[in-house]
Amino acid sequence: MELDYAVDIKELSFNYGDLVILRNVNLSIKYGELVAIMGKSGSGKTTLLKIIAGLLKPSVGSVRVLGWNITSERIESIKGKIAYIPQTLGLIEGGSVLYNVLLARAPVKPIAFMAGYWGKDDIMEALDTLKLVGLENKAMSRVDKLSGGERQRVAIARALFQRAQLLLADEPVSSLDYETAESIIRLIASLKSRNLTIIAVLHDKEFAYRYFDKIYVIDNGTLKMLR
Ligand SMILES: Nc1ncnc2c1ncn2[C@@H]1O[C@H](COP(=O)(O)OP(=O)(O)OP(=O)(O)O)[C@@H](O)[C@H]1O
Ligand SMILES: [Mg+2]
Repeated sequence: MELDYAVDIKELSFNYGDLVILRNVNLSIKYGELVAIMGKSGSGKTTLLKIIAGLLKPSVGSVRVLGWNITSERIESIKGKIAYIPQTLGLIEGGSVLYNVLLARAPVKPIAFMAGYWGKDDIMEALDTLKLVGLENKAMSRVDKLSGGERQRVAIARALFQRAQLLLADEPVSSLDYETAESIIRLIASLKSRNLTIIAVLHDKEFAYRYFDKIYVIDNGTLKMLR
């Protein structure tokens, strides 16, 4: 049944103008699965992630995410359940680590950005989340003063604090040295135990095979399962 899937894509095609990026893609991801998407630069990995995040509309096909048909239904109600970590991370550079995490739970209204909005419980929970990702000592550091690995951890902490059910991470380790990259991959893999479904774009086959349940590759617009 469709509702068994966190992501259920049928016969999806996508093009930017005349440029065909994805053709007839089918992808079913069960709740709690840890999925790697691979493929050459320009193959359409980010495009696929953005479609799943509801940021791009497919040209053809149906995309169900967390039980909702994002191609035809209002998706505002599930947006908060999807954490999308872009390749560029999207952190507020001048803000502290803690502030960046807290922002994940701010309502849309501008008043949310006023100081003093968050209660003590929120702040304690955000600090706990930072502990989980190994940043307990950096809560008050500005994110633009952090290393690449630490910045990735802030983005992951923000996704957790958001209480997302689906985590989409676009190349979370591509700019990191091997050891740091593996520690981030391990962190992401460990989140499976927190009822998260995770889709990560990866370049490293070794990490994909060591840590991920399912591995797909986009090749010439087509999605193929490697495992
Ligand atoms: N907004 C856009 N308008 C037109 N073409 C685009 C747009 N965004 C991406 N493209 C093109 O679509 C193709 C797929 O882009 P995408 O970003 O999905 O690739 P990718 O697999 O994530 O690559 P990388 O590994 O370099 O991040 C590329 O050829 C890119 O130039
Ligand atoms: Mg990309």
